[in-house]
Amino acid sequence: MDKLDLITMAREAQKQAYAPYSEFLVGAVLVTKSGKIYTGANIENSSYGLSICAERVAVFKAVNAGEHDFETIIICSSGKGFIYPCGACLQVLAEFSKDITVIITDEKNQHKEYNLNEMLPQVFSLGK
Ligand code: THU
Repeated sequence: MDKLDLITMAREAQKQAYAPYSEFLVGAVLVTKSGKIYTGANIENSSYGLSICAERVAVFKAVNAGEHDFETIIICSSGKGFIYPCGACLQVLAEFSKDITVIITDEKNQHKEYNLNEMLPQVFSLGK
């Protein structure tokens, strides 16, 4: 599956966003090293702090299915310009795959590619 297919899939995933409060719709596609694909979309709550980002929905679905090694995550949103994942999602990604490729998109489906290492060079860990 090429990048354009994955971006198209992330746009489809974005349609499942439940975001009546912010009206900011986010979709994510997570590709595992074993070649499996998990999608996510943001899910908000009237108690705003309980809302969860699209990226973490995709990661938690994958982890709950037994997958821990991720290759790429593609993120789409209803925003204008390139939208970056939040710090909480970067930390959650880093828990599993510090070298994951993060692909972000703009409203024209143009994309930029990063390695998680450059987006979050210092990761919290318990230092054990
Ligand atoms: N959101 C994501 O889904 N991913 C991010 O990386 C940042 C923000 C969602 C959370 C909330 O539902 C909406 O975007 C506005 O913050």
